[in-house]
Amino acid sequence: MGFPDVMDKLVSLCKRRGYIFQSSEIYGGTGSVWDYGPLGVELKKNIKERWWNALVRSRDDVEGLDAAILMHPRVWEASGHVAGFVDPLVDCKTCKGRFRADKLQDAKCGLKPSKHPGEHSECQLTEPRQFNLMFKTFMGPVEESASTVYLRPETAQGIFVNFLNVQQSMRQKVPFGIAQIGKAFRNEITPGNFIFRTREFEQMEMQFFVDPDTSMTWFEYWKEQRMNWHVSLGLTPERLEFHQHTPEELAHYAKGAFDVQFDFGGTLGFQEIEGVHNRGDFDLSRHAEYSGKKLEYFDQASNRRYTPYVIETSVGADRVTLATLVNGYREEAVPGEEEGRVVLGLHSSIAPVKAAIFPLTKKDGQPEMADAIAKELRRTMYVEYDESGSIGKRYRRQDEIGTPFCITVDSESTGNQTVTVRDRDTLKQDRVAVSALKEYLSDRLGDA
Ligand code: GAP
Repeated sequence: MGFPDVMDKLVSLCKRRGYIFQSSEIYGGTGSVWDYGPLGVELKKNIKERWWNALVRSRDDVEGLDAAILMHPRVWEASGHVAGFVDPLVDCKTCKGRFRADKLQDAKCGLKPSKHPGEHSECQLTEPRQFNLMFKTFMGPVEESASTVYLRPETAQGIFVNFLNVQQSMRQKVPFGIAQIGKAFRNEITPGNFIFRTREFEQMEMQFFVDPDTSMTWFEYWKEQRMNWHVSLGLTPERLEFHQHTPEELAHYAKGAFDVQFDFGGTLGFQEIEGVHNRGDFDLSRHAEYSGKKLEYFDQASNRRYTPYVIETSVGADRVTLATLVNGYREEAVPGEEEGRVVLGLHSSIAPVKAAIFPLTKKDGQPEMADAIAKELRRTMYVEYDESGSIGKRYRRQDEIGTPFCITVDSESTGNQTVTVRDRDTLKQDRVAVSALKEYLSDRLGDA
């Protein structure tokens, strides 16, 4: 049996608990654009931080970059996006639905969405027309075609055009990589599934420049590295797999392409969260051709000049965030209690709140002691202090937002300077000396 569909429950939890809100909700919302609330922004930041640490800070062969969203319009001609970043669009004159002609199987007729997904027999479809997914805007005060610029549909091009700047300024030798995290925009025809496919999203991309002769070895290396990274986020290994692009899916210039897919459960099932591609010398050659600037590398070791091949790893920050939420969501019975609990079993390294501190009662010096502990822990981690409601309710709230540890100050605490620490997953409680608390938590939170 497959994994359950938890998407509707997750959307509701995310709104209720401050993870993700619909954009411009008080105006009725904006189509497929989402805002990250206080906990969502922490979760996504933690994921981005882990990616940056793994790709940039812990290696000497990958450099960081933060290129601008707006680029010279010729960039998108060279990259092929002006001519080729299109989806075939069809309209239905009956149900007024708008579909991708190549994805009609997955689309729902607007007339009877629940009854016959994928069936368009009632639909009167127009001839497909090519629809470019790039958002256009104008640079400067005059709205004319000469001043048209695009919101970037991927961050990768900012890396390609800076290949020589980074290589020379950082005195890097091939093989080396450039990594960046940033917003990308696509006017998707059929966005949906919460933050899975949106029109504004964030990518974490790395282009690794290699000697063409070694490209397949590096391709295999990065495939393995990237899969291991997803597992290190706590994604269940059985929910992850590689999908090799079929000849029809493979871009004409690509020498090889695998997607990392995650099983989102329900009817969504396995879907791409990251692409690992051997792009050959397509990108650097095209930019050299369109800009008239040589984008080559002289390899002193082999005394050869060549255009490096690119191994690309491209992952959506929002899509991975969704995968961690789906992966973590569970409902379970609690022994001895009538009501079960909802748990967001996030890996402690990405959980927004690392620990919550509660005084058992609002008297006998307990709030003061709990507050002092919270202040001390806040120096190194994100913690919450909560004194309202029953202890059971406070535990439930922290379980639902995925807090790995709950620390309670009780009547014993003020006397012997100890607290209880409850583990979110095992529900086991340890009594820990306040002086040993930081070490206790950091041992268990790992490299969080
Ligand atoms: N530079 C290569 C590139 O952009 P892609 O497969 O189009 O490749 C890479 O995108 C990743 O970006 C995807 O695996 C996905 O995680 C994310 N992504 C792409 N389109 C998205 C969208 N509309 N909403 C959210 N994430 C998206």
